[in-house]
Amino acid sequence: MAALGITVALLAWVAILLLVSIWKQVHSSWNLPPGPFPLPIIGNIYQLDLKNIPKSFTRLAERFGPVFTLYLGSRRTVVLHGYEAVREALLDRRNDFSGRGEIAVFHAHKDRGIIFNNGPTWKDVRRFSLTNLRDYGMGKRGNEERIQREAPYLLEALRKTQGQPFDPTFVIGCAPCNVIADILFRKHFNYNDKKCLRLMSLFNENFYLLSTPWLQFYNNFPSYLYYLPGSHRKVMKNVSEIKDYVAEIVKEHHQLLDPGCPQDLTDSLLVEMEKEKHSTEPLYTSDGITVTLADLFFAGTETTSTTLRYGLLILMKYPEIEEKLHEEIDRVIGPSRIPAIKDRLEMPYMDAVVHEIQRFINLVPSNLPHEAVQDTTFRGYVIPKGTVVIPTLDSLLFDEKEFPDPEKFNPGHFLNENGKFKYSDYFKPFSTGKRVCVGEGLARMELFLFLSAILQHFNLKPLVDPKDIDLSPMTIGFGNIPPHYKLCVIPRS
Ligand code: HEM
Repeated sequence: MAALGITVALLAWVAILLLVSIWKQVHSSWNLPPGPFPLPIIGNIYQLDLKNIPKSFTRLAERFGPVFTLYLGSRRTVVLHGYEAVREALLDRRNDFSGRGEIAVFHAHKDRGIIFNNGPTWKDVRRFSLTNLRDYGMGKRGNEERIQREAPYLLEALRKTQGQPFDPTFVIGCAPCNVIADILFRKHFNYNDKKCLRLMSLFNENFYLLSTPWLQFYNNFPSYLYYLPGSHRKVMKNVSEIKDYVAEIVKEHHQLLDPGCPQDLTDSLLVEMEKEKHSTEPLYTSDGITVTLADLFFAGTETTSTTLRYGLLILMKYPEIEEKLHEEIDRVIGPSRIPAIKDRLEMPYMDAVVHEIQRFINLVPSNLPHEAVQDTTFRGYVIPKGTVVIPTLDSLLFDEKEFPDPEKFNPGHFLNENGKFKYSDYFKPFSTGKRVCVGEGLARMELFLFLSAILQHFNLKPLVDPKDIDLSPMTIGFGNIPPHYKLCVIPRS
């Protein structure tokens, strides 16, 4: 009897879900951009290749045009494809789509910090962090010097490999990790520091797992899948371990805080928290500060580190490009001076290679999800408040007219006929508009300076014939994750 009751209750529950889902979809489809027909509960997930969602978006854009509607589970989602649509949404309508679509697995960061904040504190926390990051050197000479101070440590760690094969993931990753750790916490890790290696492995594992099909699936059905086993649990556990580590640093900084003399971003945020200690609705809480710093720590490490690692693999496949870079570095910088940002003006080839690496690897192909903050009319359609908006970045980076033969790695995409650097407004790996990456200036400096320093001192030696190097990502999802590989670095003198 009891079993029958449970079965009936379950069936009734499923029926209600189906009806609600159909009602929501039919009712709210009015005046939305076109799109494929969604099924109840799963929406259009069945029409997506979970191993390559960005490619599915491209195929759907060919069918439905540059602005189309999808249901990811029950989430109404509008995908923007191509330069005009993405630019129009992120720049001309910058306020309307400045919300952040939920990424369920980062529940512990939801509506706090910067990246996953879709709440009322986002604007102020972002603005305050940006200003202070600038004060601590972001975009100014402070960061250039910080990166230049780090470069010798990186070169030393590479020298220690003594020409033997090694996996570059953590050796290379330590450099950007130390740069951001200095800005945030005034911390510097040795390249074999256990804690640093642990943190980098958490960042690295999360970036990989987030890009696997299971996590693409999980993020759209969190309420159904929360209690099931699966790699989403590992991501949440990693997020929580990173957060605990940062919370400990915040606590230490708080105990030693001299409000008159903040020395890093943690101090600056704590000073703000102290100022509003008696407020009933404080903007800065200890948990909010922890999330803000954790956001910057992993975003500031993993993205730049992955780009450098992918970049080295690409250069090994094209030794003739590496050779040209050596020639330019020797001519402009010479064998011993530490590379500087002013060198970029005289190094159009390196500048073009760095841009082409970022374009080609297409690190975050579908961008981070945005959200409509109010009902918005866009190109004659109505996009209701709360709709997830995906302004794809690969549709700009792989635009065939702007970058002919876009699947091919070709620094010529960023050079004019005189060999000078050629700017492209389609180059938006950091996105654009109100949510544009907070670390764009820092990341671009790091990529140029670290890559120049590595190639100034080393030749890259692959373990296989360059022709056999496969540049395809290991997984495509949230990010394009490079394949695992080993290399040797051989001192040039
Ligand atoms: C190659 C390196 C990097 C790439 C390709 C990259 C890319 C991106 C992208 C595509 C977004 C989403 C923008 C949007 O929602 O429209 C983003 C956001 C963000 N990035 Fe980066 N990023 C990089 C490096 C960094 C660094 C070094 C930092 C830290 C200093 C950083 C901090 C952030 C933060 C805090 C956000 C969230 C902004 C917001 O939601 O308001 N990123 N990044």
